[in-house]
Amino acid sequence: MAEKDKDPTWKSDFPIDQEEATHVSRREFAKFLGLFSGALALGNGAIVLKSLAFPDKELEGEHFICEENEVPVGGMKQFEIHGTKDIPYILIHLEEGEWRAFEQKCTHLACAVRYRHDLGQIECPCHQGFFDPRTGVVIQGPPPRPLPQLEVAVKEGKVYVKSMSKDKPYNV
Ligand code: FES
Repeated sequence: MAEKDKDPTWKSDFPIDQEEATHVSRREFAKFLGLFSGALALGNGAIVLKSLAFPDKELEGEHFICEENEVPVGGMKQFEIHGTKDIPYILIHLEEGEWRAFEQKCTHLACAVRYRHDLGQIECPCHQGFFDPRTGVVIQGPPPRPLPQLEVAVKEGKVYVKSMSKDKPYNV
């Protein structure tokens, strides 16, 4: 036999039984599934405990976001209000003098939503969820709840946001 046809020496030094090495028994597979499910349950439990231990802080007071002329009609600006769990929000300039602000996290699986002026809707690109840009209510797709909304006020060319009042939770 030619020298190059011989098996490399590592094969004889470290023999591997291919069939045994790739065989996964039913018991091993069930054990893996059990461990995997347990890890998922632990992860979910940790998220619930964290949200109970550190609930979202209520947004207090009025917050300056930008100059009115920074966002043209049909435009959107992303912003955060520090000290409130750093939630990302979007400010939308719907029409002349008409503004809206929403949390940017989709209520389905927390993807970042964006305003589509060409569609006149807020879109979540992950699973094609769509929201009304005036109210934040779900128009289409899997999101289970409206986008949480902030109240917007424009004073002397400056745009501010604050929490929606409890008795008027949405703009309509
Ligand atoms: S995360 Fe937005 S639709 Fe699924």
